[in-house]
Formats: sequence, C-alpha cells, structure tokens
Amino acid sequence: MSLVPKHIKNLLPYKPGRTIDSVKNEYNLEKIIKLASNENPLGPSLKSIGLSLNDLKNSHRYPDASGMKLRKKLAKKFDLKVENVILGSGSEGIMSSIMRTFLKDKDELISAEKSFIGFKVLANASGKKVIWVPKKNYKYDLESICSQINENTKIIYIANPDNPTGTYINKNEFDNFIKKVPKRVLVILDEAYFEYAAHVYDYPDSMEYRYDNVITLRTFSKVHGLAGFRVGYGFAHNELINNLMKVKLPFEPSSISQQVALAALEDEGHLLQTIELNLRELELMTKNLNKLDINYIPSVANFITIVLDNRNEVQKLVQFLLENGIIIRDLINFGLPKCIRVTIGLKEENYFFMKKIKEYYRK
Ligand SMILES: Cc1ncc(COP(=O)(O)O)c(C=O)c1O
Repeated sequence: MSLVPKHIKNLLPYKPGRTIDSVKNEYNLEKIIKLASNENPLGPSLKSIGLSLNDLKNSHRYPDASGMKLRKKLAKKFDLKVENVILGSGSEGIMSSIMRTFLKDKDELISAEKSFIGFKVLANASGKKVIWVPKKNYKYDLESICSQINENTKIIYIANPDNPTGTYINKNEFDNFIKKVPKRVLVILDEAYFEYAAHVYDYPDSMEYRYDNVITLRTFSKVHGLAGFRVGYGFAHNELINNLMKVKLPFEPSSISQQVALAALEDEGHLLQTIELNLRELELMTKNLNKLDINYIPSVANFITIVLDNRNEVQKLVQFLLENGIIIRDLINFGLPKCIRVTIGLKEENYFFMKKIKEYYRK
C-alpha cells in the first residue's frame, strides 16, 4: 500500500517469546517454567502492589503528566535533581521518545549487531541509516564503533550489561570510548540490568558519568519485577530532559504504574532478595554448565546465553524443553542462530532446567 513508507514495509515485527498459556495449550501441560524474558522470578514486591491497590479507585483521573512524585523519589535515590529525570512506558518508551526528539534529516545511528532487539526495531522504524557494528567475542567493540562515527552520527546506543549476551563494558573501556565521542553525538547508555552487575568491581557506575551527551536508561521491569506495568526512567542533562518532556506521550506511565513503582522503591528487602537469588543461582548454573562441558557466554545479568554446535541442535533442544514445560529463548532473531538464552529462575526452576538438560545430553 502506498500509504506505508518503504522502511516500515520492510520492517520485521518484534517476535516476543512464547507465552505460558500458548505452551500449556499446545503441549497439554499443567505447569510451565518460563525462563525466556529475563523477568524477576520472585515476581513484584507484593508490599508495593498492596500499597498501590487503593489508587485504582482514582482510575477515572488522568495521571500526573509530570510524574513528579516518582521523579523526585528517583532523583533523591540517585542524588540528582528532578530536572535530570524522565519517566516513560518502559525504557523502550523512552528510547522511542529519544528518537522522535533528537533525530532529524540525515542523522544516523550506530550500535552493535546482536544486541538488544528492542532498540533494533525502534532504530529501523526511525527510517534513519543505522550502522550495525560487529561484536568481538560477544562484546561491544567500542573502538570499531568509534571508527564508524561520521558527521551525520547523532545517536550511539550501548546496552551495559548487554542483552542477549550478558557481557559488560568495563570502566576503562567506557572511559576510553567516551573521550572519543564528539559532544554533538548522544550516547544512550541502556542499563536495564545494572542492579545485577553493580557488584562487579570494574562495572562502571554511570552515576559518576554525568556527561552532557549521555542519557542513562533504567527500568522497573527487571529487578523490581514490574515488566507488566511498563515503567522506565532516564537520567540526563536538564536540556535533554526538557526537550524529551515535550515529545514523550504526556500521560505515560499510567497512574497505577507510577504508584506501584513508587512503592517498589520502598521495598529494599525485595530488591536485595532478588539480587542475592540471582547471584547465587547464576553461579550455580554456571558451575553446572561447566561440569557438563556446555559452552556459554559468561554473564553479569539475570540470564545466561548458551552456545550450541549448530542450528539443528538449538531447534532440537528448544523443542525438547518446550515438551517438558520449559520456555527459554531461541536467539535466532537476535542474530545468534546457534544460541539460546536462559533467564535465571527460582532455585527449583533452575534445578528442573538443569535436570532436563542432563537428560537431553544423557549425562
Ligand atoms: C537491554 C534492555 N534494555 C531495555 C529493555 C526493556 O525494558 P523495558 O521493559 O523497561 O522497556 C530490555 C528488556 O528486555 C533489555 O534487555
């Protein structure tokens, strides 16, 4: 249809992972373990949900468009001013606003191949030229990214830790990189998984990097277990935030989402429990994979990517796991056809996953 621009016609729609219900129905199973979308296996803080339920009665009112309470709380927590904080419908909502706010005419974007697919979809939908730089050993090749900067480069996107590889850029690497990026280029530093990586000694604390051309994106979807509520936040220079505020949808996130996120910030116990569970279980999963001599990419996030011998192996293993009620992520759409990604689940979920892996390999 001529109404649809060519770059939209050519887009491949985002393919989400399998839902619990669809797998239940297809395989006639009672119980499903979903280790596919890097969600918090503990769920949300029930305290925060409970505290917020009362606010549902105000659902006939529009949300506070300035998101003031939540922005103030985030500013306080991270020692910033409220003018430096923005909210959105998930961090992807903010990514979308960034593109609509800052891209014009011949502007171009740079990122890495085989990185976060959500950014890829948005970047391709922008209709702008995007340079996808190959990774090195499953990591961003920052030198190569810098070498691709040209006079039209406007945005560089980096996820740290990265999804789906779980790798991270260390402090030194980031320091060297940022020195080479011209100030007219906006760096999106996507830290959706930062809480899981924060204990790593050389993981850069981006709060120390208050550069005028860096926007840090974070989310309530992962460690806070609120993916369904769609609340993301970003930190940047107030001039960037001011302009983003003009473009973002005025009433994102919804009132109840703002309220639940606010309450979630009060539940430090839930946050710590989530991080500790992940640390313990990630280590155990890694040990078990080592024992079985299974190839994987070392991860600092809440998931681990397993590298198999070939595509056929991936298809067979994904199918075997589905038939046993386990949903994991086939990474073909992320550009990694020989890989699967497994979210770190509850102790018993990970145990069941490993049991089935052993059974599959008959080890
Ligand atoms: C690197 C990365 N950034 C952003 C997101 C999306 O987060 P949100 O739910 O806040 O849009 C994800 C979710 O998987 C992710 O892996």
